[in-house]
Amino acid sequence: MAAVIRNDLGSAQYYGAECLSKGANKGINHTRNIHEDEMSTTHINATKSLIQQMAEDPMLVLDRMAFQNGAVDLGLGFPNFKPEKKITEALSEAATGNDYMLHHYTRPYVILLEPFYTPYKDMLMIRGAVPVFVPLHPCLDGDKQSSADWVIDKAQLENAVTQRTKAIFLNNPMNPLGKVFDREELLDIANICIKHDLTCVADEVYQWLTYGGKHHMHIAKLPGMWQRTITLGSAGKTFNVTGWKVGWCLGPKHLIQVLQNYHFFCHSDQPQYTTSKKTQSINTEKSESEAVAVAFEKEMLILNTPDSYLHTFRKMAEEKRNKLCKYLNNAGFKAIVPEGCFYIIADITNAQGALMNKSENTDEALDYKFAKWAVVEKKLCVMPFSIFFSKQHRHLSEKYVRLCFVKTDETLKKAKDIFDQWNKN
Ligand SMILES: Cc1ncc(COP(=O)(O)O)c(C=O)c1O
Repeated sequence: MAAVIRNDLGSAQYYGAECLSKGANKGINHTRNIHEDEMSTTHINATKSLIQQMAEDPMLVLDRMAFQNGAVDLGLGFPNFKPEKKITEALSEAATGNDYMLHHYTRPYVILLEPFYTPYKDMLMIRGAVPVFVPLHPCLDGDKQSSADWVIDKAQLENAVTQRTKAIFLNNPMNPLGKVFDREELLDIANICIKHDLTCVADEVYQWLTYGGKHHMHIAKLPGMWQRTITLGSAGKTFNVTGWKVGWCLGPKHLIQVLQNYHFFCHSDQPQYTTSKKTQSINTEKSESEAVAVAFEKEMLILNTPDSYLHTFRKMAEEKRNKLCKYLNNAGFKAIVPEGCFYIIADITNAQGALMNKSENTDEALDYKFAKWAVVEKKLCVMPFSIFFSKQHRHLSEKYVRLCFVKTDETLKKAKDIFDQWNKN
């Protein structure tokens, strides 16, 4: 059977940045930097082992044994006598006072701009938050289409904000669309954040990857936004080591401190600062964070010169973007030219296979049916665009698929051969 060409996952298919491996100074096995299929098994095993470890936690074991044996319990760290009166009185007042909402769940509402990076939704829901979906709308006409043609409806965004809304997630440049928000658009979002006192989570992991002369702007730099913005970055996306899962966050002290506490308790390890305190960057993998810090320090010395890795990677990625757009357009797809990120969204309407199984009466989105058809019939793996939307806005996305273009020239050539034959059989 012919091999399936994978243009779906968002990991660049090259060696990690050279400056990183030098930074790590420990002979990295390059192939291990890339997301692997076995990751899910590893993850399940890790979770199982964590559950087992917790069951075997000496504190829990001894506490259980103390109860079973009627032991004098000097084990656990709590005073076994009455608490301070002030505090119990305050509790009583809180329980009987007028603020009855203190007795109820309060779930923070968080706005996700669609298309969204899929883990956002799950992460929010696991923590009891309610995602509120606000889609970007395509204003596409004519043949030349760009990710810039997908825009926010300002009124719709503002209408989505209620008393319970706490935050907006802004992914800029935006996976999977490749949209890079311009100053006017960022100002619209910033004004809504300020007016309604919202926190902005600015996921800027693709900040270095913009094309066609488009510049990325940090929303945190707009007036009034630093105090309410957490900006996220990723070594994986910056230095092409997507398996490292090392990142950083920047923001004002009052927000970063909360994250540090959260991180500390979730990872039972001291947060590590990858650079000076100024950048407040945290993660758990010490040698990898050291490598990221060293790589940045080296990179900063040559930034904006042709030797800069960030410059050469961006240039190479742009060339690959242009190639894949051409292959897609030649085969009857319509590429929405991305201004950033790793991906192209392509309109499948006029490509063979688009109407495949359309009449089938299932709830599956058309683009998902198409992707399943393409992987079997064309040996090409692409991602349905609709997985990045809520069900209620699926109709905006069903005629597109996502393809990752940061692949070796060899892989892109194989994809080209498939596209060249697309309508011939
Ligand atoms: C938009 C976005 N945010 C965050 C991440 C996570 O980055 P990392 O894998 O480096 O943690 C990704 C990875 O694909 C992404 O696309």
